[in-house]
Amino acid sequence: MVEPDRRDGVLVVADGLYRTFRRGDEEIHAVRDVSLEVWPGEFVAVIGRSGSGKTTLLNLLGGLDTPSQGRVQLGSQDLYSLSSGEMLALRRGFIGYVFQSFALLPLLSALENVELPLRINGWRRSEREKRAREALELVGLSHRARHRPYELSGGEQQRVAIARAVAPRPSLLLADEPTGELDSITAQVIFRLFRDLVDRERVAVLTATHDRAITQYADRIIELRDGALVAEQRAGGERQPLEGDQLFRRPSSP
Ligand SMILES: Nc1ncnc2c1ncn2[C@@H]1O[C@H](COP(=O)(O)OP(=O)(O)OP(=O)(O)O)[C@@H](O)[C@H]1O
Ligand SMILES: [Mg+2]
Repeated sequence: MVEPDRRDGVLVVADGLYRTFRRGDEEIHAVRDVSLEVWPGEFVAVIGRSGSGKTTLLNLLGGLDTPSQGRVQLGSQDLYSLSSGEMLALRRGFIGYVFQSFALLPLLSALENVELPLRINGWRRSEREKRAREALELVGLSHRARHRPYELSGGEQQRVAIARAVAPRPSLLLADEPTGELDSITAQVIFRLFRDLVDRERVAVLTATHDRAITQYADRIIELRDGALVAEQRAGGERQPLEGDQLFRRPSSP
């Protein structure tokens, strides 16, 4: 249980989130009544079958969609009460995004890809280069700085994408199926890297995945079913001993 006073330092709060899509006469409740908290330096995984609402939930938490009902708080800010300019500024400073398809710019080198968000955020040239090199180092790819994405393996491309996401020192990394296009061994390399970033950079990671290997690395697993949060499980997180198989059951629908 979380003590009420600890809520002060909370990074992300979702309160009674709903997202309903309309398709013709049909209403699809992609996310229904989801409330959750993410703390600084926590590694949280969202699991659930295809169509259970993982992407929709991540998009709502990352300001990429708008909830039908409910509230998202990032740090001390109420995300969906901000103007679009304020929201963009908050997103740029607060969140790093990692995608299944890596989304690197093909004509830029690894280093230039990592530098790009720093350039957009207005970092000075010398600081930006230093931090981009540091971020590449964090993902173990200093020796690939000059390579273009097509000269890198899928796993390496994803590591460059992760370096790009952490370079601006976000508080939260959002990763939707970051290992969806990678083999299972490489997937574990990526999860281990997230673990490492959480421990070394104090960034919080929230990732949606189908890969059960995540339980070895994440601190907490959240399960969605038909848009609702049905279970929350404390996981291994590698550096923490397993506290048994604690399952905190929650009501599955409102
Ligand atoms: N833009 C949209 N319009 C209509 N329905 C949508 C839209 N986006 C998502 N949905 C529906 O909402 C539900 C949840 O979709 P979502 O993409 O969040 O699932 P997911 O858990 O990420 O699935 P996957 O594991 O396949 O990525 C699905 O039934 C989906 O068809
Ligand atoms: Mg998805």
